[in-house]
Amino acid sequence: MSAKILSGKEFAAQIKESAKLEVEELKNKFNVTPGLAVIIVGENPASQVYVRNKHKTCEELGINSEVVAMSESTTKDELLAKIDELNADKNIHGILVQLPLPDAIKSHSEEILNRIDPLKDVDGFHPMNVGKLVTGSPALVPCTPAGCIEMLDLAGIEIDGKRAVIIGRSNIVGKPMLHLLMARHATVTVCHSHTKNLAEVTREADILVAAMGKPKFVTADMIKPGATVIDVGINRIAPKKLVGDVDFENAVEVAGAITPVPGGVGLLTVAMLMKNVVKAVKFQLEEKNS
Ligand code: GUN
Repeated sequence: MSAKILSGKEFAAQIKESAKLEVEELKNKFNVTPGLAVIIVGENPASQVYVRNKHKTCEELGINSEVVAMSESTTKDELLAKIDELNADKNIHGILVQLPLPDAIKSHSEEILNRIDPLKDVDGFHPMNVGKLVTGSPALVPCTPAGCIEMLDLAGIEIDGKRAVIIGRSNIVGKPMLHLLMARHATVTVCHSHTKNLAEVTREADILVAAMGKPKFVTADMIKPGATVIDVGINRIAPKKLVGDVDFENAVEVAGAITPVPGGVGLLTVAMLMKNVVKAVKFQLEEKNS
């Protein structure tokens, strides 16, 4: 038996369509055109592709997009000043600093990201948004894990009462995923590089999320028959060959549903960013009226 393939393209199209309607509504009801600023420092080729994608998707949906390209030699203070300027700009509702930052300022990443106004933090990385996610308040939530939840809902896969296992404890995926799944009443276990008997734990999962960045690490024997497998990994193993954290060819024979790489969760991330820009506009309108 072969698993149902959860196509990122199909779900991303649905999410973008819904974001587009919300953008139109914001324009009609409030005369506001959402604006996103994406800051890219240096010339990392993968980052350039991601940023171009974000810009293109904004244009498709009627969101104003400003790409701020800064040179490799940009200092921390120059970048902070740019963020301050965008924080004060009324036409910009979302700010995203593309990661990774160049080596020279990488060690300041936390200070730089924390400078973004939490109401404009469409990556959901600011401690204020992280805290709200943990306590269950409305917040801007990191796009990739939020996209995984949206996909499960659109695919009609139940979360409530299910055993979920996440492999990977990153701030961008693993940790927010824990809180999102827990808020939806799953019983969640987070595994990582120090977990003993990992396969025993993953075989308990009705929903298995692989997000540790190791090519084809999750093999078929680690999956409970019929489980939903979400592969968040993107690993380049040859110049033109991307694979996920799951050994897809074999896992597809055991899982009930599975996301491919490429063509899976990656496409949801950009779609959810658009949703987050819309959410940011709404938060800012509420703040203005309170
Ligand atoms: N680089 C890779 N993934 C991400 C992300 O989710 N946000 C930002 N800002 N940069 C990234």
